[in-house]
Amino acid sequence: MIKTPSPALWQQLKETHECLQKVLEGASTSEILLDVPVELRPATQALLFLTLRRLGTAKGLVKLLAHKTPKEPAHSLLCVALAIGSVEVDPMYSEFTLVSQAVEVAKRNPLMKAQAPFINGCLRNFLRERIGLLASLESDLQSKWNHPVWWINLLKKQYPSEWELILKANNQLPPLSMRVNRLRTTRADLSKSWAELGINHTLQGEQGLIIQSPIAVHMIPGFDQGLCTVQDGGAQMAAQLLMQSIGVQLETANEGSEPSKILEQGRSGRLNPIRVLDACAAPGGKTTHLLEYPNVQVTALDIDPARCKKVSESCERMGVQAHVVCADAAELDSWWNKELFDAVLLDAPCTASGIVRRHPDIRWLRRESDIAQLAEMQKRLLDKSWQVLRTGGKLLFCTCSVFKQEGEQQVQSFLRRNTDASICTQVGHLLPSLGFKGELVKDNELIDHDGFFYTLLQKS
Ligand SMILES: C[S@@+](CC[C@H](N)C(=O)[O-])C[C@H]1O[C@@H](n2cnc3c(N)ncnc32)[C@H](O)[C@@H]1O
Repeated sequence: MIKTPSPALWQQLKETHECLQKVLEGASTSEILLDVPVELRPATQALLFLTLRRLGTAKGLVKLLAHKTPKEPAHSLLCVALAIGSVEVDPMYSEFTLVSQAVEVAKRNPLMKAQAPFINGCLRNFLRERIGLLASLESDLQSKWNHPVWWINLLKKQYPSEWELILKANNQLPPLSMRVNRLRTTRADLSKSWAELGINHTLQGEQGLIIQSPIAVHMIPGFDQGLCTVQDGGAQMAAQLLMQSIGVQLETANEGSEPSKILEQGRSGRLNPIRVLDACAAPGGKTTHLLEYPNVQVTALDIDPARCKKVSESCERMGVQAHVVCADAAELDSWWNKELFDAVLLDAPCTASGIVRRHPDIRWLRRESDIAQLAEMQKRLLDKSWQVLRTGGKLLFCTCSVFKQEGEQQVQSFLRRNTDASICTQVGHLLPSLGFKGELVKDNELIDHDGFFYTLLQKS
């Protein structure tokens, strides 16, 4: 077999800075990485994510090293090289290799060829004056925290004691969190088989397992067979909170039980199934979790047809069935047959400010004005979802955001508009890595999870 040589560093830097340029123009990494040649994709993703986590520092360095901000594509190439070059612990490449390979990228691009000596000069000056340059960025908020200044100021205002810890957590690598599919196996069995295969992991919450050294999902034993799925520890609380509030418990299977037996147990139950609406369901992480509970019938709605397909695929892999509908959840006439639901999960579209460890582009793509726009969308979805809930039913509102406009403030204004609504469980904001703010799930106080907001409402 002929072994393909691994791509040269200059090729990786070329792909990375082209991707960065697109992110700076407003594209999301998940879209643009698909255009990167397959053999270069893993390395490009790693370098791009590292650059995005250090983009504030890199931009600050460009300002110090160049008298005038260089035009694209030279600007993004410099940012990538400086982000990588300014990593203090365990540098990935020798500094001189990095400089020569970045200059190689410039020389090979007709739009940058003439700037190759300038790029070389900037990067060599950085190597010479590194300590002083980095020290002079300490007082610059964006450079120090690698977030836009408006984002930092908002966190400072909303979390006067925790804002620094949130920002630090946001710049870390996320854990690879999995959820066991209790219809097909038990966590103890899955954990045992992983341990035998040498996959180091820890347990989290009721159904979670955290893999220490991230691997591609299809390499995770049991993933393709639907024994587990990828889901953050914070997100795993949704189905649990909603189902337990209406008195439905997961049926515990014993270690070593036959999967088919567990499946049967899960499906057995009362004559009238519990009708649950998952109002913003795609890609289906919480839908499949809801369906692990016995005697539950889920209508999974999403406005995006391509993402609806993902819900169906997730259900198929996990061996569960949802009624998947592609519609605007707030346009009731387009999808609702007037039959009320016993429970509603509204995992509303939001700024995603709680999941920036996993999606390091989000902080640079969002504008401060997005918060109000998204909060308005959440308000419309909340009001309409409330109408389809039966009296006595429960609605779990959640967002993967740490901003209070998409959490606490949203719920307070909802309660003012709807006198038949009351809070049954105010979980409040989970902050990334900081543990749990609220009265429930005390065991999880120190768990390593994304930022989330949860409130459970009851209709009276
Ligand atoms: C936070 S994601 C949901 C994640 C999902 N619950 C899960 O756990 O996998 C929000 C979803 O809301 C969908 N969405 C946005 N506006 C919507 C609307 N008006 N009606 C229905 N779905 C909507 C988006 O397409 C997106 O898939």
